[in-house]
Amino acid sequence: MTKAGWTLDDIAWERFDSSKVDADLLMAVKAASIVEYNASDYVGYLKNVFPDDPKLHEIFEQWGREEAQHGMALGRWVKLADPDFDFDATFEAFREGYTPPHFEEADGSVRGSKRGELIARCVVESGTTSYYSAMRDATEEPVLKQIAAHIAGDEMRHWRLFFDLQQSQSEPELKFWKKLRIAAGRFSEAEDDELAYAYYCANTPADRVGIEPYDRKACVRAYELRVLRLWRPKHLDRAIGMIAAAVGMRPRGWVARSASRLIWTAVKLKNRGAMRAEAKAEARGLRLARAA
Ligand SMILES: [Fe+2]
Ligand SMILES: [Fe+2]
Repeated sequence: MTKAGWTLDDIAWERFDSSKVDADLLMAVKAASIVEYNASDYVGYLKNVFPDDPKLHEIFEQWGREEAQHGMALGRWVKLADPDFDFDATFEAFREGYTPPHFEEADGSVRGSKRGELIARCVVESGTTSYYSAMRDATEEPVLKQIAAHIAGDEMRHWRLFFDLQQSQSEPELKFWKKLRIAAGRFSEAEDDELAYAYYCANTPADRVGIEPYDRKACVRAYELRVLRLWRPKHLDRAIGMIAAAVGMRPRGWVARSASRLIWTAVKLKNRGAMRAEAKAEARGLRLARAA
């Protein structure tokens, strides 16, 4: 694995333009900074999946450092956009409230095999490549654009790392349907607690975390509302192509292209649904405020 070709010193922080900060995107970036910075747990978990391979452990550690750097870069940008944001307190609150059970208990892959684990990692890196490419293209704020471009490049390289590792495993190849099931399972986990809880911690004042009620579904909806509008079909095509390749399909075959079109329709519908739900919640809040 090649090293990340950038550090925080390569970012042109002086070009920050507060007039170009999108308040909704800022809320999503706060959550992303926390999740990215939390990579060390994944490093430990991956080492457990591949217990007897010190060379691989070094590679995972380098990967973890790069993910943590994503968190630091995004966190520093957030601080420019919102000087009141307390990254350390938010991260601490997140760590206190969220630990996936398999990080503590698993002595192997929760996907059932090394190959399965690496397919799941490919799904995550496909999603993040697509997400940061969409962010790079959508934001007009120059510093965030530069950070997102660097991160998207890293995520693509991470996908390649896990893809190559999967190909080189001595374990027997998994059946196609099994691979598809693992990929679909990991895809659906995008709506689990990790991002939702990070969104809650990052967008609730530090001294109110744990006091303000945490509603996972509402947080998932709020996060999706803020990120789905960034996507364009080309970003989705890319993610689906990368996932298709990870499960052994042609990245630009008709199945991948049809899946991309279907998901694009679902994204648009979901986005509309999330906008309606947020508008309703806002109206309800206003009514309550007026009645009080
Ligand atoms: Fe990352
Ligand atoms: Fe990554």
